[in-house]
Amino acid sequence: MATLAKDQLHPVDPLDVSRSELYRDDTWQEPFRTLRATAPVHYTEQSDYGAYWSVSTYKPIVHVESLPEIFSSEVGGITLADFLPESDVKMPMFIARDRPVHTAQRRSVAPAFTPSEMVRMSDDIRRRTAEVLDTLSVGEAFDWVDTVSIELTTQMLAILFDFPWEDRRKLTFWSDWAGDIELVKNEDLRQQRLQYMFECGAYFQNLWNQKVGKEPTPDLISMMIHSDAMSHMDQYEFIGNLILLIVGGNDTTRNTMSAYAYGLSQFPDERAKLESNPELIPNATQEIIRWQTPLAHMRRTATQDYELEGQTIREGDKLALWYLSANRDETMFEDADWIVVDRPNARRHLAFGHGIHRCVGARLAELQVTILLEEMAKRRLRVNVIGAPTRVSACFVHGYRKLPVELSRY
Ligand code: HEM
Repeated sequence: MATLAKDQLHPVDPLDVSRSELYRDDTWQEPFRTLRATAPVHYTEQSDYGAYWSVSTYKPIVHVESLPEIFSSEVGGITLADFLPESDVKMPMFIARDRPVHTAQRRSVAPAFTPSEMVRMSDDIRRRTAEVLDTLSVGEAFDWVDTVSIELTTQMLAILFDFPWEDRRKLTFWSDWAGDIELVKNEDLRQQRLQYMFECGAYFQNLWNQKVGKEPTPDLISMMIHSDAMSHMDQYEFIGNLILLIVGGNDTTRNTMSAYAYGLSQFPDERAKLESNPELIPNATQEIIRWQTPLAHMRRTATQDYELEGQTIREGDKLALWYLSANRDETMFEDADWIVVDRPNARRHLAFGHGIHRCVGARLAELQVTILLEEMAKRRLRVNVIGAPTRVSACFVHGYRKLPVELSRY
């Protein structure tokens, strides 16, 4: 029976998987298991984000994402938290646009993520990764999240944007504010966010001014300036898309790197398998992304009534596509809760989504994580977790705030 939780104004549905404490306490597995087994398309009437449908198995998520006209990213945005026009900064981003605008804007940044661009960036990323690893001492305790995951991700983004190196942590700071959907619950924090987003906008405006009218350079800002679709944007749209590219790459890649450290410590036999066979690294990268699923959900809003798995979705209803759960779907992945570094179908995970919005930065994230694993292997370094992680308390970004570790050699 539903109970009334402390500080909450509505009864708690035990299958309301939007509750942030499930992620803070790492107890989300059980309710999702129940959802997958009994109600893969489930309606939660009341939650902190209002009513919503949970889609929790693999196939219906792929189905919904294959129908972008019926399940819109634009009508209600891409997270369960609704946009509040009166207190949120207006920052249109192509992740939250439908066709045709989405197609044109995505096309203008996609060249930054082609295989040949990845080859161009890889030496720089490898050199920077090596530099960070070479500052670490074996046997000394440190926080993996800040020292490695945040630092390397920030460096990767700074390379991508040709962002002033000494200011690179600003990227992390703005991105953490932009991507925090828990802010929806607090008006003061929303205002604070607004202020930081303006600060970010002003900084990028300045970078933009320095590059406009100049010869194109192979970084994202210049690429956006010289693209057709982007050059027709107003200032808010330009900044919104820049922030999208920072936020999109930030927590996600960071939390994959933390999952590598934490996840393999939970599965020491798999870690040993990887250590003795570095050729498994590219597959292990996919498997770690699947196991972590750094973005737990994306939201869609129905533009018409639609029958899904025997349930009637009504026009205007919101749906959470729980990638986190689809990637633990036992009908797709055997022993889905385990990391298996040589899992044959690890690549089929849904952590990057599916369809027209599938992550445009996937190759870059894979490159950065693979390089990290290769450079660790080269040094025969192992991460030993020496305390409980502190986790992000949110149903969108799925990750770690702190992870105490020390290194050893094998
Ligand atoms: C879209 C996950 C890394 C930029 C997405 C989507 C997901 C996702 C789930 C939405 C798919 C959908 O709505 O169907 C991830 C994960 C990453 C990662 C798990 C790391 C492991 C990156 C990186 C960048 C990036 C490194 C760029 C620097 C974007 C952008 C979109 C996107 C711009 C919007 C694409 C569109 O709407 O067409 N990502 N992402 N992501 N991601 Fe990533």
